[in-house]
Amino acid sequence: MIVTIDGVAASGKSSVSSGVARALGVPYVSSGLLYRAATLLAHEAGLAPHDPALLPHLEAQPLRFEPLAGGNRLWLGERELTADVQSAAVDAGVSAVAARPELRAWVDRRLRALTPPFVAEGRDMGTAVFPQAQAKFYLTASARVRAQRRAAERPEAVDEIEAALLRRDEHDRAQSVPAPEAHVIDTGPLTLQGVIDTILAALPQ
Ligand code: ADP
Ligand code: CDP
Repeated sequence: MIVTIDGVAASGKSSVSSGVARALGVPYVSSGLLYRAATLLAHEAGLAPHDPALLPHLEAQPLRFEPLAGGNRLWLGERELTADVQSAAVDAGVSAVAARPELRAWVDRRLRALTPPFVAEGRDMGTAVFPQAQAKFYLTASARVRAQRRAAERPEAVDEIEAALLRRDEHDRAQSVPAPEAHVIDTGPLTLQGVIDTILAALPQ
């Protein structure tokens, strides 16, 4: 079985996916982490997203992606990248990377190589990457609520985080369309466990 959980930035996708995956005893897969890895590696190599050298550069890297239920981890050889990709600099650059069709195809190839069952989260898991998924969800919340949640995790001001989230929502709009059959959940009034329980209750038996 494949369950997809898409949604806007900081809507709760990875925390909710981790909870749902643990309840089901399967891994979850953070597609955003791969876009973030591509962005960090591009920055470190001094390559712009549209540089034709970027895709061969990515393909030559010893990048390892561990989609564990408790939390996804990224490695470049022996170096762990998991924390490094969750920075304001990567946030600011990732949408330009995600707008490149050849880089989307690089991410999609890695995702489609995984063996189900799993929970996949991102923007286009239920539409472009796993249209055959058995259950699809789409998480939303107001920009203010999302910024307040992110502010609890990062040393930045809520207003700046909110402005950056709105910019990223706008840049990611093309790939952030809910599947027509997705259950749309406003996570604003719910606790994290409340969102997880709502999804578990809606899964096909
Ligand atoms: P995303 O993967 O969509 O960026 P995260 O899972 O990183 O979102 O969630 C952002 C933050 O919001 C996390 O600190 C998470 O614990 C918190 N969070 C998620 N959902 C809820 C919720 N319903 N109520 C309160 N906090 C939440
Ligand atoms: O959780 P948050 O939205 O902050 O970040 P993420 O899910 O790690 O995604 C980071 C970025 O990757 C997004 O802003 C998109 O630009 C891109 N992305 C995408 O285009 N398609 C996906 N399926 C997942 C992420």
